[in-house]
Amino acid sequence: MTLTLTPFQTKVEYWPGLIETYRRYLPVTDKTPVVTLHEGNTPLIPLPTISALIGKQVEVFVKYDGLNPTGSFKDRGMTLAVSKAKESGSNAVICASTGNTSASAAAYARRAGLKAFVIIPDGYVAMGKLAQALLYGAEVLAIQGNFDQALEIVRQVSENYPVTLVNSVNPYRLEGQKTAAFEVVDALGDAPDWLCIPVGNAGNITAYWRGFCQYQQEQRCTRLPRMMGFQAAGAAPLVHDAIVEKPDTLATAIRIGNPANWEKAIAVQQASQGQFMAVTDQEILAAYRLLAADEGIFCEPASAASVAGLLKAKAEVPAGATIVCVLTGNGLKDPEIALQQKTEQFHQGIAPDLDLIAQTMGLAP
Ligand code: F0G
Repeated sequence: MTLTLTPFQTKVEYWPGLIETYRRYLPVTDKTPVVTLHEGNTPLIPLPTISALIGKQVEVFVKYDGLNPTGSFKDRGMTLAVSKAKESGSNAVICASTGNTSASAAAYARRAGLKAFVIIPDGYVAMGKLAQALLYGAEVLAIQGNFDQALEIVRQVSENYPVTLVNSVNPYRLEGQKTAAFEVVDALGDAPDWLCIPVGNAGNITAYWRGFCQYQQEQRCTRLPRMMGFQAAGAAPLVHDAIVEKPDTLATAIRIGNPANWEKAIAVQQASQGQFMAVTDQEILAAYRLLAADEGIFCEPASAASVAGLLKAKAEVPAGATIVCVLTGNGLKDPEIALQQKTEQFHQGIAPDLDLIAQTMGLAP
């Protein structure tokens, strides 16, 4: 008996991870040991409800990078940074982190057989991220200080001791992260008109821009997007062009007052005719809830800053535009914030009784 393939069957191709997929665009050689968790290849998801809210026939998508192996976009940079650290013979990596970098560094370092040290601001890292770093086997040092102070310390450690720094000041991080722009273009067929992105240490906005520019040079896209960077109102140094000594926001991932990639990010904003804007915690949470309840997408609060920013800049959106909002991290990273959201749909302590259940469901009087 011969087996006939129906037209509905498609061949699912094996995804080998970012380094193999985009090898020709990345600083690797045959000698580079590839450390991968098969990161990347994250979905570009249309947002019908949010597109309708903007109106003007726009098409809004999210690049849902919270679906990477450790739940954030950091894996794109970490596969390359850790591969290169291993290639150079390093035995240990270190980073400062608001949480996601630490989870990613820990996972990739341990997979490579390297030691991972992470320095975090005590009490300001979401529970899921801390849990990950610990379980992946990193040495976690929680300091009584903020991210900016932690970054200063890890810079000093890496200058004085044989430990490789894997924050986004490590050039391989941005090289890996630029692949997100490649994937956006590969999915859309061209670059979007706008790229909306949350900004903390300003590495990712720099990396995306580099990716779009490189793809344009390679004639893989015909245009470049306007780069729209959104910061939390209490941690918006790029918006105000001034260091924020005491950054404050519930979006702890972007609680940064002195971004390491400051100049690079300004250059991106200028070259792309983009903009930096601040969004309040209330606006972030409104977008966070909207994404979950109306689009079925659960991201972490910092990620929702991209959508909050788009909604805020709605009047400036050109008619018919294609817009991509980057969702940098998974909602499961920060369940505490999710549970703090007031909802009338949580009915607790109900007896397991049919009538009672039906009444609560609104099916019986
Ligand atoms: N979104 C999330 C979820 C993040 O974790 C970060 C940065 C950003 C956005 C901002 O990206 O720094 O490239 O501008 N998190 C870093 C960390 C600082 O330590 O995990 P950026």
